[in-house]
Amino acid sequence: MPAYAVIGAQWGDEGKGKVVDYLAGKAHCVARYAGGNNAGHTVVNEDGEFTLHLVPSGILRPQVTPVIGNGVVVDPDVLLGELKGLSDRGVDVHRLAVSDRAHVVMPYHVRLDSLEEKARGSKAIGTTGTGIGPAYMDKASRIGVRVGDLLDPEYLRGRLDPVIDFKNALMTKVYGADPIPADEVLEKCFAWGNDLKPYVRQTELVVQDSLARGEGVLLEGAQGTLLDLDHGTYPYVTSSNPSIGGACTGLGLSPREITGVTGVFKAYSTRVGGGPLTAEMEEDTAGLLREKAWEYGVTTGRARRIGWFDAVAGRYSATLNGFTSLVLTRLDVLDGFPSIKVCVGYDLDGQAVDRFPTSLATLEKCRPIYEEMPGWDGQTASATDMSQLPPEATAYVNRIEELIGCPIHLVSTGPRRWETIVKKPVL
Ligand code: IMP
Repeated sequence: MPAYAVIGAQWGDEGKGKVVDYLAGKAHCVARYAGGNNAGHTVVNEDGEFTLHLVPSGILRPQVTPVIGNGVVVDPDVLLGELKGLSDRGVDVHRLAVSDRAHVVMPYHVRLDSLEEKARGSKAIGTTGTGIGPAYMDKASRIGVRVGDLLDPEYLRGRLDPVIDFKNALMTKVYGADPIPADEVLEKCFAWGNDLKPYVRQTELVVQDSLARGEGVLLEGAQGTLLDLDHGTYPYVTSSNPSIGGACTGLGLSPREITGVTGVFKAYSTRVGGGPLTAEMEEDTAGLLREKAWEYGVTTGRARRIGWFDAVAGRYSATLNGFTSLVLTRLDVLDGFPSIKVCVGYDLDGQAVDRFPTSLATLEKCRPIYEEMPGWDGQTASATDMSQLPPEATAYVNRIEELIGCPIHLVSTGPRRWETIVKKPVL
């Protein structure tokens, strides 16, 4: 098992945390490549439930070196808080390696995220408010601060002074908000530098050396393909590349090293924030499902919007990422539904469309074409073998596999590690 990617195939929240934790049993290194603490991964193991925002899910496996790659944006307060929480629960966090090239989410990024959202009014993206967009903007504008800079106070002061002046002008003159005192920001950065120093590494070497030793490296995605800055439902997207290309740039890894790409799909769709969700359910059905499955954001607590499985979006995601296998999660949530719809095409002004449209305006005009399948009375919850599934549930799994055109290797039937059906080993 050389490098193997685990990627969210929908709009995030597909259950990647459980999948990465499950597969990490066979890995030596688990490397996160994009996003920041806008993500929320939940892992349940014999020691209880863990919620992770920045630290790779692999930290819960003792043989794993967890890596935060250069493509991630790091809010040091969140990271340090998460490490303390893990350490207090007996997890050895000293194995963590944080890229010196990863960009820092600064206090003014968090402030600007909410100021910009407020200014967008009814066109708000519905961001997580964690400063992700503004941090990536500064990275692209070449005025960002990198984790390695935190270790060099003199260099940092020289670099930050003009940036803070600029950010304060923006906050006061454009948004009418209070400025952030430059000294406070600098003091914070120096303290972060001290606290993060033991973890800071040139992480591309950590990953490359692990591969050179023939070890297994899992590439842990955050968010989902349809939130990808380039390939998602722009502008209702995040500011990084959760799809496969992000794994290469976000870790300093050649695509030639990646031997498998698994796409994680939920058995239905969810989306938080604004933007199109073509197969969105009626609110009475969505409400039932939301409460049953507790579809509320791990990071923000916001209610997730709920839709039926969208095979048009799913095929697009599979082609874009080159999935070699799929994982289907939360099948158990559909237990007891009398019938289940699958969106198999879109209707665009009376024309059937089976390709996912590029433009937001076109996508907003698309209406779902559904196929209706019978639900099941029995339960799939906690099943560990396909033979335990009601025949209607097996038919549903097979239909998704057929529509996406890629084999499903794992089916997750509950939050715990063992609540997993292995149709075919992923690794
Ligand atoms: P941002 O990433 O906070 O800028 O938010 C941009 C969009 O991505 C919003 O619609 C968020 O709700 C969504 N988003 C960001 N991270 C996640 C995630 O981990 N799961 C689901 N949606 C997310």
